[in-house]
Amino acid sequence: MPAGKQLREMFYRAYDASLITSFLGRLVAISENERRSVSGFLGEGIHFQSFEVECSPMPLAVNVAKASFSQRGEAAMARWEDAIRRARSLEGDSLIPPMDVVKASGLTAIVMPKGNLVSQGGDRVIGSMLLETSRALGQAGLVLDDYPQVREALGVPFIVDWSDLTSIGKNAR
Ligand SMILES: Nc1ncnc2c1ncn2[C@@H]1O[C@H](COP(=O)(O)OP(=O)(O)OP(=O)(O)O)[C@@H](O)[C@H]1O
Ligand SMILES: [Mg+2]
Repeated sequence: MPAGKQLREMFYRAYDASLITSFLGRLVAISENERRSVSGFLGEGIHFQSFEVECSPMPLAVNVAKASFSQRGEAAMARWEDAIRRARSLEGDSLIPPMDVVKASGLTAIVMPKGNLVSQGGDRVIGSMLLETSRALGQAGLVLDDYPQVREALGVPFIVDWSDLTSIGKNAR
């Protein structure tokens, strides 16, 4: 089985929306500052904090939007979620991982496979895949307006940072 297909199959076996919902329910009770000490905290950027959730057969990353991101307003959030869902329909195309948006307890998160740092030598392959990915996104009326951050799972590279995904052109809303 191609590695990308295997990654998708394992992701959907591991992904249980109700488990993520209860994880978010626990997270909402503590401040963003305290969330950095939660076991499984993977890292953060300006807009998201990422947590590993143990699932079988593979660990998942739950990237939770910080208040600075979700407080941009309902319309902006709805546009971003719509863009993520459209990117999701391209999953398996180049560097687009299987992923989903989960909203619970007032928090918004993207769930995807937990990725490891790309091994040396992987960088060359990724260079050409980045071009393919931006073409695929562009055809769907999407643009990722950020330097793409790539990790890998089961040897399959994928972009982990989707905070700056936006709609463009005739499909923009
Ligand atoms: N799928 C994943 N697997 C492993 N670690 C991850 C994953 N997704 C995110 N991370 C970790 O969490 C960090 C923050 O996630 P992300 O880059 O999505 O946040 P961000 O706020 O959008 O960042 P930036 O400010 O750079 O745009 C990443 O730098 C990475 O270390
Ligand atoms: Mg980002």
